[in-house]
Amino acid sequence: MAAMGKYRNIVILTGAGVSAESGIDTFRSAGGLWENHRVEDVATPQAFVRDPDLVHRFYDMRRAAIQEKLPNPAHAALAELDARWTGDLLIVTQNVDDLHERAGARRVLHMHGEHLKAWCTSCDLRSPWRTTLIERPPCPVCQARTLRPDVVWFGEMPYRMGEIYAALRSADLFVSIGTSGAVYPAAGFVRDARELGARTLELNLERSQGSRWFHESRLGPASEVVPVWVEEVLA
Ligand code: APR
Repeated sequence: MAAMGKYRNIVILTGAGVSAESGIDTFRSAGGLWENHRVEDVATPQAFVRDPDLVHRFYDMRRAAIQEKLPNPAHAALAELDARWTGDLLIVTQNVDDLHERAGARRVLHMHGEHLKAWCTSCDLRSPWRTTLIERPPCPVCQARTLRPDVVWFGEMPYRMGEIYAALRSADLFVSIGTSGAVYPAAGFVRDARELGARTLELNLERSQGSRWFHESRLGPASEVVPVWVEEVLA
């Protein structure tokens, strides 16, 4: 689409749908992650206080599982865009997997944290972490046995919101990929971007909850629609 040539600054929001074809369950689909576990049982600070073993077991399994998965053509296309786009670009991901990075993308911001990091609530250090936490290993720095998954739970503040809003303010194109638009504040980015003057595009398997806020929606699997869009925008 020739019109893409007028864009300079792009903000991309990704969600679980971009990793679905890598074999990582989305949250809200039939058989999805939250269907098998109640959100309140595993993804809230209260759950961690109430039953830390349950929460650790859930995240230990997820941390192991994502390391078995591979990036798919949607991640690869976004990495290519990152490599070749000379304007500003920020890939804001709600995903806690590392598939954007493993595909080669560098301008990635994990607003909901990362499975492959542990956060010490005693000394506040975030450490790379690939193994389990259920046995309460010591923090590599302060030795306290107070590590938790470095993921943002419901009721907690997403990370780096200032940077995200700064990028949205200067964006002339906002693209949402593979997210249901059910969880704020990410679900509100399209409205913010649009009100700030950006063109808004949705790439998703089905219309998201905020679909009416997008100037354009392209429906289909991310592994197909994302590479086509990237090719257009780079043309
Ligand atoms: N290609 C594109 N989109 C897909 C694909 C696919 N192959 N498969 C599923 N989708 C779409 C679904 O139609 C749905 O709209 O991806 C979206 C996934 O939505 P959710 O499961 O709600 O995931 P997400 O939007 O990332 O969730 C947001 O909620 O539970 C919290 O913190 C968690 O970051 C997560 C946040």
